[in-house]
Amino acid sequence: MFAVRSVARLSTIARAAAIARPKAPVMAASAIRLSSTWANVPMGPPDAILGVTEAFKRDTDSRKMNLGVGAYRDDAGKPFVLSCVRKAEAQIMKDLLDKEYAGITGVPEFTKAAAILAYGAESAPLKEGRVAITQSISGTGALRIGGEFLARFFPSSKKIFVPTPTWGNHIPIFKDSGLEVVHYKYFDKKTNGLDFEGMVNDIKNAPKGSIVLLHACAHNPTGVDPSEAQWDELSKVVRDAGHFPFFDMAYQGFASGDINKDAYGVRKFVADGHQVALSQSFAKNMGLYGERTGSFSLVCASAEEKARVDSQIKIVVRPMYSNPPVNGARIVASVLSNPELYQEWLGEVKLMADRIITMRNQLKNHLVNDHKSKLNWDHITNQIGMFCYTGLTPEQVEKLKNEHHVYLTKDGRISVAGISSKNVAYLAQAIHDVTK
Ligand SMILES: Cc1ncc(COP(=O)(O)O)c(C=O)c1O
Repeated sequence: MFAVRSVARLSTIARAAAIARPKAPVMAASAIRLSSTWANVPMGPPDAILGVTEAFKRDTDSRKMNLGVGAYRDDAGKPFVLSCVRKAEAQIMKDLLDKEYAGITGVPEFTKAAAILAYGAESAPLKEGRVAITQSISGTGALRIGGEFLARFFPSSKKIFVPTPTWGNHIPIFKDSGLEVVHYKYFDKKTNGLDFEGMVNDIKNAPKGSIVLLHACAHNPTGVDPSEAQWDELSKVVRDAGHFPFFDMAYQGFASGDINKDAYGVRKFVADGHQVALSQSFAKNMGLYGERTGSFSLVCASAEEKARVDSQIKIVVRPMYSNPPVNGARIVASVLSNPELYQEWLGEVKLMADRIITMRNQLKNHLVNDHKSKLNWDHITNQIGMFCYTGLTPEQVEKLKNEHHVYLTKDGRISVAGISSKNVAYLAQAIHDVTK
């Protein structure tokens, strides 16, 4: 007879089989388990960034620092919920809104406000009603919808060129969308800055009519952005080569503290007549990480074309998740459309960006002035946004972890948002120790 406990331990399928044959001997249970449908599923590698967090959690040293995760922390090292978001949320609760489904492309007040934020209120395509836009499951979902749409409808190529390096998730997102991912030069290891010449050459030499992914601001993981003059040139290069620009804007406002400055590249390309694709995220700049609030948009040639594109975006979205969640979208719509909350938000975005800039300055200052490091650390302050690509080698990263309890990704990227006025000196000491 089967013991009740041994049946309970089996997988659902095996349990059903076991219950159907209650008189089978105990030996048969392991045989059933071995023939599981999923017996050949291989163990996948752990996520590079989440792996850092796991190791950090296991460390019991009080000085430990997690510089792996790309989420803002306040100067006490705590997650930060924006005050404008709390106020918008309180109002939404008060309004006792229903929980009905949004349409396939989301909450219209949200997409309208998101488009204005990105393209600018004076944007010609917006005024002419030729921007197709859908709400998305944050920036990741926007990139996935964009990738899928391009794989189906982009006429000349299935190749998408992404910078080296790029946000790790870009590669599987676009591959899963059916695009072929190719790389263009971006980061110059010698200067820890932009390899503009290499970038331009690679883009020029890509097959005519390729898709080019551009980080709109606060490039992840390097923190290195083109200057405004370089954006101007890139717009010409992309146009002359007959390519298609796909902007990923996950950090608008977060780079410089100014939402308009950070949108320079996108707006310049649009003003020059590019029909850009754009992914937006409100994870970082409004601190809505887990609310999964973002949008994907495409500039079209006419309102009639926009209607056709809209219809196909809906056909992409509907079988994926039917329609997006409403709460984050309601919060963003409310913050962006209420003049008081909007002003408060601009202040809070700047506060977050400024805290990061201050931490960059302090870290460099400790290394250069206190420790008299012989290395050049200018890139710490030249780079922008949440991340600093330190130039530390994998061996130095390992030493930081093992000897100083400082956790970061192997490529030497640190999330500056994880540094505070209380631990910046300790971090500088640790970095100096592994690099001197
Ligand atoms: C460059 C870049 N794009 C997109 C995203 C998407 O983030 P989310 O899906 O949380 O909006 C991130 C998040 O780290 C990012 O760094």
